[in-house]
Amino acid sequence: MTSTRGRFITFEGIDGAGKSTHIAWVVDRIVAAGHRAVATREPGGTPLGEALRELLLHQPMSHDSEALLMFAARREHLAQVIRPALARGDWVVCDRFSDATFAYQGGGHGVPAARIRELEAWIHGDCQPDLTLLFDVPTEVSRSRLLRSQANGRTLDKFENEAEAFFARVRAAYLERAQGDPGRFRVVDSTRGLDEVRAALAAHLAALEAA
Ligand code: TYD
Repeated sequence: MTSTRGRFITFEGIDGAGKSTHIAWVVDRIVAAGHRAVATREPGGTPLGEALRELLLHQPMSHDSEALLMFAARREHLAQVIRPALARGDWVVCDRFSDATFAYQGGGHGVPAARIRELEAWIHGDCQPDLTLLFDVPTEVSRSRLLRSQANGRTLDKFENEAEAFFARVRAAYLERAQGDPGRFRVVDSTRGLDEVRAALAAHLAALEAA
């Protein structure tokens, strides 16, 4: 029996960029197109990963530890969820992956990119996303979305509580990565209305299907 590897799609963007709104819709489209889809997230996706997520989002720690724990969670996630799903032919939709470590721990917190590249090569040098959807908004927009959700009673986590200058560095790091790998990244202007964003997403999915 031959089997075709599924497709690996990751969602990225600064907090408040609006990616969460679109994930369920993308998963539904993939299923409607006749594929099996696995929706998952980072940090998280496994019992250990979810426990690490709790620590990462709420405990103070050094920036190096943050990067290392992100990759520890990722190591389990790849072994238990992502690689088996792709091998079965499922499509994997992952809310954040290693680009987030380059953007947040690297761009935002100053961990050298070379260090993160070493971890990436070690943990998943052989397994990269086929498509990365980068939801992009100016930091003022993401900030006001976060403050609105806080006003509606949501408690912001450690990252969401960072200053706007932090998000400006994270955004710049994301955009730099997108520029460096235009074959994998699609930058989605997330200031546009829902219908326009969905039309763009549908086109990116169709291109991936045909690839
Ligand atoms: P997020 O996807 O924003 O979760 P939610 O939509 O539930 O708020 O994410 C978790 C946070 O973790 C986010 O602020 C970014 C951060 N993060 C990193 O700093 N590095 C990483 O490698 C990953 C995967 C996430």
